Amino acid sequence: MTPQDQALYDTVSASFTACFGHAPEFVARAPGRVNLIGEHTDYNDGFVLPCAIGPATMVAVSKRDDDIVDVVAADFGGARDRFNLQTPLERNSRQPWADYVRGMISALQNEGYALSGAQIAIAGNLPKGAGLSSSASLEVALGKAMLALAGTDIDNTRLAQIAQMAECDFVGTKCGIMDQLISAQGKEGHALLIDCRSLELTDAPVPDDVAIMIVHSGVTRGLVDGHYNERRRQCEAAAAAVGVSALRDADLDMLAAAGLDATTTKRARHVITENQRTLDAADALARSDLAALGELMVQSHASMRDDFEITVPPIDELVVLLQEAIGFNGGARMTGGGFGGACVAIMAATQVAEVRSAIEAAYITPDGKTPLIMIERPGPGVAII
Ligand code: GLA
Repeated sequence: MTPQDQALYDTVSASFTACFGHAPEFVARAPGRVNLIGEHTDYNDGFVLPCAIGPATMVAVSKRDDDIVDVVAADFGGARDRFNLQTPLERNSRQPWADYVRGMISALQNEGYALSGAQIAIAGNLPKGAGLSSSASLEVALGKAMLALAGTDIDNTRLAQIAQMAECDFVGTKCGIMDQLISAQGKEGHALLIDCRSLELTDAPVPDDVAIMIVHSGVTRGLVDGHYNERRRQCEAAAAAVGVSALRDADLDMLAAAGLDATTTKRARHVITENQRTLDAADALARSDLAALGELMVQSHASMRDDFEITVPPIDELVVLLQEAIGFNGGARMTGGGFGGACVAIMAATQVAEVRSAIEAAYITPDGKTPLIMIERPGPGVAII
């Protein structure tokens, strides 16, 4: 176990024991993720290139003999949620974290898994609202833990699909499969090129001398705020107008021929060009061609800013600063759903110290602080630990 995982394990175990008076039967861990490139392509049946990271969510569980689920959230001051598995679950607007628990448990039940009542403690060390998939990691870890209690294990891709249902059907964010799938299937030392139509995973090794830097802009985001679902609707409208089942199947000529309004055209253009950039980026990474990869990241950011319109000024500023500090041998872009969150940068490992000090000197978060900077290696996906 890494020291970071050990500290999280100690936190979740201590929280469980303090609440329930005994040690848990199982602890599941699922990581957050950073997406290197391929944004808002997943729900268009396209390609993404994420990797799992070190920070994660851990879920400690023990069985109860009845149908009660009793949950404690260590990160929210020991907040509790309690519900009965036999009663239809509803959203709990006072405790948004609990919706991911209720949503995942409902989704597992809807898919026919017989769950028992449980005592559950949750703790995570992912920054919230950074676009690093703390919610997906919670859903995936909880699913793994609840299935372990039920004496079952399922394929991790299937687990990710059920976690996506939790988010789409219960929480109400009509997300794609990327976050849940990489949290479930992440592979140490590798990013994964994911074909979001076939769910085929292709290993994309990240060489040891290539660094992945994540910088949190300090602008926190909430996906449930409607912008995300609006973008998805626009993409679906564009696909329908072009006459394809998903924008994955469209090209720029087909888009031009469809004569769509200016906004819908821009949205679709982002998705069509981003799909190609993602495939090209996987090739560039395989060749360790940081200059080509960097150029694709620059283009990806410009497309998110100008065509998909999901960036915000502090993020645009941070990307410019990162790009200036990195130069031509690497690149930076916003990562995740947008409207705040973090930027991802790729560079030679030898450049990390210099880029870090440049950013610490030049960027302050909207509330006047030095930004959180993380240097990550791709880590493994969900597991019982
Ligand atoms: C969020 C969603 C993902 C994906 C990204 C954008 O993270 O959960 O499914 O759409 O935004 O790439």
